[in-house]
Amino acid sequence: ATSGLGTEIVNVVNKLQDVFSAVGSSASQIDLPQICVLGSQSSGKSSVLENIVGRDFLPRGTGIVTRRPLVLQLINRKPTGSPNGKANGTEDLKAGGDTAANPDEWGEFLHLPGQKFYDFNKIRDEIVRDTEAKTGKNAGISPLPINLRIYSPNVLTLTLVDLPGLTKVPVGDQPRDIEKQIKDMLLKYISRPACIVLAVTAANTDLANSDGLKLAREVDPEGQRTIGVLTKVDLMDQGTDVVDILAGRVIPLRLGYVPVVNRGQRDIEQGKAISAALEHERKYFETHPSYANKAQYCGTPFLARKLNVILMAHIRNTLPDIKARISQQQQKFNAELQTLGGALGEGNSANIVLSVITEFCSDFRTTIDGNTNDLSLNE
Ligand code: GDP
Ligand code: NA
Ligand code: MG
Repeated sequence: ATSGLGTEIVNVVNKLQDVFSAVGSSASQIDLPQICVLGSQSSGKSSVLENIVGRDFLPRGTGIVTRRPLVLQLINRKPTGSPNGKANGTEDLKAGGDTAANPDEWGEFLHLPGQKFYDFNKIRDEIVRDTEAKTGKNAGISPLPINLRIYSPNVLTLTLVDLPGLTKVPVGDQPRDIEKQIKDMLLKYISRPACIVLAVTAANTDLANSDGLKLAREVDPEGQRTIGVLTKVDLMDQGTDVVDILAGRVIPLRLGYVPVVNRGQRDIEQGKAISAALEHERKYFETHPSYANKAQYCGTPFLARKLNVILMAHIRNTLPDIKARISQQQQKFNAELQTLGGALGEGNSANIVLSVITEFCSDFRTTIDGNTNDLSLNE
């Protein structure tokens, strides 16, 4: 079960992610645990993310829509005025419409501090606006992440990173080397040992040709931190299924595969609600002769729970390392502060950033020390 402690650890990691993004280069020196979504264009990455969140909020269209990494921090938050508000699981993923504003669900961008977005269409508009502002209107890409937090009683606390899809052919005025540019950016994220790779492959394509799985294998050859997601199970040829893949008889992954059914293009055009899509997905697996006996291990709600458990375990395992790195950084910053101290005025921005980090790191250490103790007692 996911305890409050687990949520607290993820919250601390989320705060760190913000601080490190804000100060730029320091981010790369500390490896924060997160789940990165990897796969070819149109494999269903955005659909998987939206189903996990239970809301429509990602830009869509043809071609390369995701052109900057989107660091999506989902934060489970009890509804106000209902102290017994219980989250997690199928019921909650189904609750609430996709477009109706709900006072308990909102988004916040790191680059727009203090501004709460209750209208998820406006979240999509802002992602598009800021992507264009930083990369131009042509189909160029940028490694500069967009940081978005979503607070909701209907999500599990998780950090997901949506990455540009793998593509082969440049379109329009895209640079010739777009394939390499994207691959390099993806590798930067997924090479980090603290990254859990969510490799998305359409089930109606050959698993052996999955670009996502191929790239994941380059950084995780043993399949120790790669989860397979099989989309478009509903589009497979009649009489075929993913049972052999799920059983690990095709390309085994230690963390396994989860099959899902997202909305098709027509569903989206007809405005089918995510709640209805999740209901359809549940019935699909429960009634399909190949999956009925394993329906509890299929579909988006199971995927979300699995990711939450894996991320939590992963964060616990990487805490000692994060802690060591942070104290190294802290020592370095302290030394720098000493050298620069006399020269910097009170209001100097570098000085302020350094002291914020130093303060933050000591808070973080207190939390980690506390949690590490709790964890060792529990295990
Ligand atoms: P991305 O480029 O990887 O982010 O892919 P999208 O999530 O935008 O999906 C690409 C297209 O595939 C869209 O038209 C989706 O409606 C469709 N799609 C995604 N997943 C499924 C699925 O499980 N079943 C069906 N029928 N269509 C899907
Ligand atoms: Na793929
Ligand atoms: Mg997408």
